[in-house]
Amino acid sequence: MSHNTFGHLFRLTTWGESHGPCIGCVVDGCPPGIEITAEEIQVFLDKRRPGQSRYTTQRKEPDAVRIVSGVFEDEATGKPVTTGAPISLIIENVDQRSKDYSQIKDTFRPGHADFTYIEKYGLRDYRGGGRSSARETAMRVAAGAIARKVVPGLNVRAALVQMGPHEINRDNWDWAEVDNNPFFSPDHESVQGWASYLDGIRKQGSSCGAIVEVVAEGVPAGLGAPVYGKLDQDIASGLMSINAVKGVEIGAGMDAAALTGEENADEIRIGEDGKPLFLSNNAGGILGGISSGQPVVARFAVKPTSSILTPRKTIDAKGNETEISTKGRHDPCVGIRAVPIGEAMVALAIADHYLRHRAQTGKG
Ligand SMILES: Cc1cc2nc3c(=O)[nH]c(=O)nc-3n(C[C@H](O)[C@H](O)[C@H](O)COP(=O)(O)O)c2cc1C
Repeated sequence: MSHNTFGHLFRLTTWGESHGPCIGCVVDGCPPGIEITAEEIQVFLDKRRPGQSRYTTQRKEPDAVRIVSGVFEDEATGKPVTTGAPISLIIENVDQRSKDYSQIKDTFRPGHADFTYIEKYGLRDYRGGGRSSARETAMRVAAGAIARKVVPGLNVRAALVQMGPHEINRDNWDWAEVDNNPFFSPDHESVQGWASYLDGIRKQGSSCGAIVEVVAEGVPAGLGAPVYGKLDQDIASGLMSINAVKGVEIGAGMDAAALTGEENADEIRIGEDGKPLFLSNNAGGILGGISSGQPVVARFAVKPTSSILTPRKTIDAKGNETEISTKGRHDPCVGIRAVPIGEAMVALAIADHYLRHRAQTGKG
């Protein structure tokens, strides 16, 4: 299985299967001298961790991260810093129940990767989906915690803006609210409605989709390359690589098609500080593949979890028509736990471009 690496100068390679003994990653190309501790990384992992509310899978993974290389005590400060060597991170898998998956051993879950894995590789680790499991994304979140520290002043945050058909009211947007509810919603008024909706979905043995919005502030102007290394292209690629993501947009995204040129143009003035001031941000902070200095805004749609209790028509590995209903512990709305993963992928893409920009221009 090839292509387990994301990025060019700041490179993340992940390894491990959902039901193997552990998962891990190697972060290569991280500059030396960046202060980092396992505790700092853990903060982000804890946001993605399963079993934290009744709205996510009850799999109990502590997701305790261990740094096993690339970090050493700085003599001057006594604090652990990156050395410039590859940083390896490991998380033990402690709550596998492989028997939960015996029913999918020879039967393909519609909407999951079972059929395509067999078509491609001729065999698959069916326990928890192996590499197709979103367990892998824990390592993206861990690496994202390091990526955030590579770009001075970078602040990447995300929120759930739609659950199933239910959108937030953007007038209520409050970043402080995001960590106060189990859905990462920035709109406190959405929470009760989403809770009842998701309870209903779960009781029906069903699942629902969601939309996540990621906002990166403190992105310096100039990151990205204009042709095949666009910042928006690489952010979209990183977000689209997350399990269950079926749509990505930057700035006004799909809605830009319905705007006129006048409405869509982000007009520019000179602000009171003498610097360029954009009057809107339909571009999502990226023009010509290069960051403008405005916040970078990306949105992604996560499909409903395919492993559901409701029986679905499918076929087995021998080509017989059958039905499957997936038992085991699954999130009814995987979009919730995708919030910290989206943040991580945007941070990884920006950190990579920050180093690429510095390498080419000497700036940064
Ligand atoms: C955080 C997270 C958790 C997920 N958990 C499940 C799960 O419990 N059951 C499931 O069927 N899919 C789950 N998925 C989605 C599958 O991994 C994904 O649908 C599958 O690998 C097929 O890939 P695709 O949907 O990108 O085509 C999860 C996705 C994310 C982001």
